[in-house]
Amino acid sequence: MPYDKKIAIVYKTKYGCTMKYAGWLAIKLDADLYEISDVGRWDLLKYKTIIFGSPIYNSQIYLKDYLQDKFHTIKNKNIVLFCVSMNLQSKEDIVEYNFENEEIKNKIKLFFLQGCINFDNLSKLDKIKFKKSISKNLHSDMVSLEKNINIDRSDKHTVRPIIDYVLDKTY
Ligand SMILES: Cc1cc2nc3c(=O)[nH]c(=O)nc-3n(C[C@H](O)[C@H](O)[C@H](O)COP(=O)(O)O)c2cc1C
Repeated sequence: MPYDKKIAIVYKTKYGCTMKYAGWLAIKLDADLYEISDVGRWDLLKYKTIIFGSPIYNSQIYLKDYLQDKFHTIKNKNIVLFCVSMNLQSKEDIVEYNFENEEIKNKIKLFFLQGCINFDNLSKLDKIKFKKSISKNLHSDMVSLEKNINIDRSDKHTVRPIIDYVLDKTY
């Protein structure tokens, strides 16, 4: 008899940093791990807790449309979302910008994690867009971002609060 896991992690990534966090969480939580394009409606219904992982691109949560679209299917589950970014905006601004729907905002438990950027790997368009995002959101943190074009701020220890929250809610 196969053992049914209670937790799913569903992530979307463009350059891999969010996938790295999703992998760390999957190991620690013994969770099933899905890249967004591999997960169907029926898959999600099997779990008690679903953790979504999404980068922030141009102030937008990359999984925002997906979450809005699927919300009614999964709203009775524990829903967690971790956002991965270079902290160009405040957490409050990200929430404000991405969640017009109060029900979704109240239901999803949000966490913010520090991302990675390797300027050499970015597409031409993303280089331009990232520079634009930096100049639009200038604060002290940005100075180092502009100087160091390859930055990896990901840290596996920072997923601890997510693990504690999810274990508490699930078991
Ligand atoms: C085109 C572009 C736009 C970005 N916009 C933002 C942004 O608005 N706010 C932010 O904090 N980080 C921004 N970032 C940084 C990404 O969120 C960060 O690099 C993240 O780790 C990417 O995740 P991924 O590797 O899973 O795709 C941007 C990066 C790129 C390339």
